Amino acid sequence: MSLLQGKAVVITGSGHGIGAACAKGVARRGAAVVVNDISQARADETVAAIKAEGGRAVACVADISKWDEAGRLIQTCVDEFGRLDGLVNNAVSYSYGRLSAYDPVGAERSVAVNVVGSLHCTGHAIKPMLAQNSGSIVNVTSGAHMGMLNMGVYSATKGALASMIYTWTLELEGTGVRVNGMSPFAATNDDGAQSIPGVDDDGKRQAGLPTPEANAPVVEFLLSDLASDVRGQIIRIDGEEVFLYSHPALLLPSARRSKWTAEELAGAFNKEFKDRQVRCGVLGIESLPVDLKTGFWARMATTTD
Ligand SMILES: NC(=O)c1ccc[n+]([C@@H]2O[C@H](COP(=O)([O-])OP(=O)(O)OC[C@H]3O[C@@H](n4cnc5c(N)ncnc54)[C@H](O)[C@@H]3O)[C@@H](O)[C@H]2O)c1
Repeated sequence: MSLLQGKAVVITGSGHGIGAACAKGVARRGAAVVVNDISQARADETVAAIKAEGGRAVACVADISKWDEAGRLIQTCVDEFGRLDGLVNNAVSYSYGRLSAYDPVGAERSVAVNVVGSLHCTGHAIKPMLAQNSGSIVNVTSGAHMGMLNMGVYSATKGALASMIYTWTLELEGTGVRVNGMSPFAATNDDGAQSIPGVDDDGKRQAGLPTPEANAPVVEFLLSDLASDVRGQIIRIDGEEVFLYSHPALLLPSARRSKWTAEELAGAFNKEFKDRQVRCGVLGIESLPVDLKTGFWARMATTTD
């Protein structure tokens, strides 16, 4: 039997890019898929590709940042396929730029789609999942959530998606519903619609970057029963290399005083915390794979736009 035979899943923003690749991937592994996008043309394209290969899929055009539309999306899966086994919170609205060039409109849209949309979809999906006592939720986060120049807004939304995983895993302990994350990596900007200030030309198509399809096996795994013991984890896939993320944690040893003042805190930074400040940022340029040290990623790490 196919890995995902009998399962029905919703993938938000799966009309394009990594979401589309994941929708096709899970359909090939036997799942029925609700292909969501805000664009009818994009959703239809993914559905047509799945059906052309003999898979099962329906399109649902919905703006997931709206509570009612997110509800209609989840209900579409239940109505069409009789159940809901997986939700992949993948849809994204990108917003780039340094804090000094803060864009309030882009920021609000990013938070609405990436954060609120994922909350809304999961808020609806959890009801049928708990009722059937099974389900797998996959939040698509990003290495950017560890800190990346030009990506303050985007990073913040992706950090929110990671934090949802930690809390929902605690809340869903003892149930059949699991929450995990994927941190993908792929060249997807083929239409140039999401070019990044200062790095846009090469950013559209990077030779050597993984394809969207290279990321799909992570979602196939997390949605499957092969991952029934995997909870609260974020899998980072960089082409041939896969990582597990560490989670934010309190550093030990701590510092203790009978009463804290600003001066005592300063003292702790000269004593217990001396030389222990945590370095920010995912992309210390020295940590880049050799073949990515020029072009797109190098400029992401250094551009001042
Ligand atoms: N491309 C990468 O290397 C990379 C790296 C890290 C993380 N990610 C994450 O992977 C996911 C997919 O990224 P991508 O580059 O493939 O994206 P993409 O822009 O190619 O596709 C996203 C889709 O989401 C749709 N969408 C936007 N707003 C929506 C809304 N309100 N409701 C429903 N759909 C909506 C868009 O129409 C689009 O088709 C995102 O969560 C992104 O943060 C991507």
